Amino acid sequence: MCGIIGYLGYRDAYPILINGLKKLEYRGYDSSGIAVFYDNVYNLYKTKGRVHELEKKIFSCKKQVKGTTGIGHTRWATHGIPDDINAHPHVSNSNGIIMIHNGIIENYYAIKIILLKNGFTFKSKTDTEVLVNFIEYIKKENKFSLEKAVRISLNEVVGAYSIAVIEKSHPETIIIAKLGSPLSLGINNEEFFVASDPISFIDYTKNVLYLKDGEMAILKKGEKLDLRKIKDNHKLNPVIEKLKINLKEIEKGKYKHFMLKEIYEQPKTILDTLRGRLLIPEKIICIDGIESNKEIFLNAKSITIIACGTSWHASLIGEYLLEELTRIPVEVEYASEFRYRNPIIEKKDVIIVISQSGETADTLAALKLAKNKGAFVFGICNVVGSSIARNVDAGAYTHAGPEIGVASTKAFTAQITVLVLLALIIGKHRSTIDDFRYKFLCKELGSIPEKVDHALKMDDAIKKISQVYYNVDNLLYLGRGINFPVALEGALKLKEISYIHAEGYPAAEMKHGPIALIDENVPVVIIATRKGCYEKIIGNIQEIKARRGKVIAIINEGDIQVHLLADHVIEIPNISEILSPLITVVPLQLLAYQIAYIRGKNIDQPRNLAKSVTVE
Ligand code: AGP
Ligand code: GLU
Repeated sequence: MCGIIGYLGYRDAYPILINGLKKLEYRGYDSSGIAVFYDNVYNLYKTKGRVHELEKKIFSCKKQVKGTTGIGHTRWATHGIPDDINAHPHVSNSNGIIMIHNGIIENYYAIKIILLKNGFTFKSKTDTEVLVNFIEYIKKENKFSLEKAVRISLNEVVGAYSIAVIEKSHPETIIIAKLGSPLSLGINNEEFFVASDPISFIDYTKNVLYLKDGEMAILKKGEKLDLRKIKDNHKLNPVIEKLKINLKEIEKGKYKHFMLKEIYEQPKTILDTLRGRLLIPEKIICIDGIESNKEIFLNAKSITIIACGTSWHASLIGEYLLEELTRIPVEVEYASEFRYRNPIIEKKDVIIVISQSGETADTLAALKLAKNKGAFVFGICNVVGSSIARNVDAGAYTHAGPEIGVASTKAFTAQITVLVLLALIIGKHRSTIDDFRYKFLCKELGSIPEKVDHALKMDDAIKKISQVYYNVDNLLYLGRGINFPVALEGALKLKEISYIHAEGYPAAEMKHGPIALIDENVPVVIIATRKGCYEKIIGNIQEIKARRGKVIAIINEGDIQVHLLADHVIEIPNISEILSPLITVVPLQLLAYQIAYIRGKNIDQPRNLAKSVTVE
């Protein structure tokens, strides 16, 4: 979810908005727009692409953008592809209310139905345009002020938002509100600055108020800030802080690298992936792209999952999930291999393609090949409106937000989360999992964000382990069952950012060759959770120790047996084996990060790598 910005004061708003949006560019986005108010009119510009495109569009209008009130937005699309129409700001049907929004309105569709029945029309495909018209509907039906209409509407909304709303007839007032998406307020005498990230207004003021979830503020020219609770309109005492951190730090928050920020974002991004899809109390899962193609999945003779890199590792985990829960045979293919080997594809075969960027050339080519041969292709992407997303027959977005670090982390766990939802839906409909297990796994899936948060607390212990092994030349990663692909992913993370050679292997395969590598110079990272083949894993650890190997074991909390055997242990919360990759990968991500950090590598942009491999 990207960036919003607003200004209310005595200066020209346009340069403040444009420069503020540029400061938000680091967060990744697909389109942008601004609206500037002057007397009772406003100039609104929005476009797909970079803020620079927006500037060019405004410049080409040869109109001076006057006005001392304005709002701006960088969009990370969730509903509706990135294009000029879906870009923000969005305007109500009467043209009287203008809004920008970060986040996801989960119940936008139900609200849209109500509005359509009441004569509203929509230009865009966004949930945001529904919200601005819902506010207009509530305002008109009840003759409310804008601030009351905003508050009442938000009490009906399910989802996450940070919004700024202006009424054309009252450009001296901006209403802002926050739930689940960041929103900060810069305050000077006679002026207010609104932004998702204070980086946008740090040049103008260091007096900052961070809105909390469930809070809204009415900003009026020449008046003091009016801070309220959305729920009951209770007036709050604003706590104004002095912005301490410098520009560079703000971009990554308190983290030294985007990769670390994205590893720590995983509790939130997994929650965002589940948002509106896993209804915990009712134990209901709904993903549009699956519901509308249910029969195709239910009747599939087999499923082939195609991807590259980390997404290929997620695909391997998908194989374990889908075969275990749906009993449908699954094959996993490297896109680069699949596309060149004249694969056997029958009409109606089911293919799943997984891609964070949605632009990986090999994966896109494999998808087009499969479609040309008549297969049904389902996509799991993170970038809305990306090439892969636009070419599949149906799909589900991971909603992990922009992933800036080249080494994929939060997108990986988001992909697995979607695969778990997919396997549960299909397994339930095929009756290959009973109702008890279905409900149990739904409940456990809902606890994953908290368990990931718990696993992140091992970071200090992992830093200590990294100090012991940051200078080795080789590491071996071992895992069994559904954690074998996690071992592959852990090895890739380390290779990518620390440039240490690492190899992932099925633990049982060690004796078929790799054990020859083991000595005191080749540490072994082993996923030794207490489920599947635990006794065999113990045996593997003993084999390694017998050859003077060093063992770093990922274990469940309270596991004494491995604790006594391994040289180092990293404890993670207990979880069903089938969901464990969502947790076991976290210490491996942190281990790779901490080792690379000690080695002083360029973690966010490792040598030779690109975030999206759009070449073949
Ligand atoms: C993962 O850390 C790497 N950056 C790389 O392997 C990546 O997963 C691969 O290029 C696939 O990218 P995609 O998910 O955007 O298709
Ligand atoms: N859900 C809104 C949209 O898709 C806002 C996305 C964002 O946070 O940028 O337009």
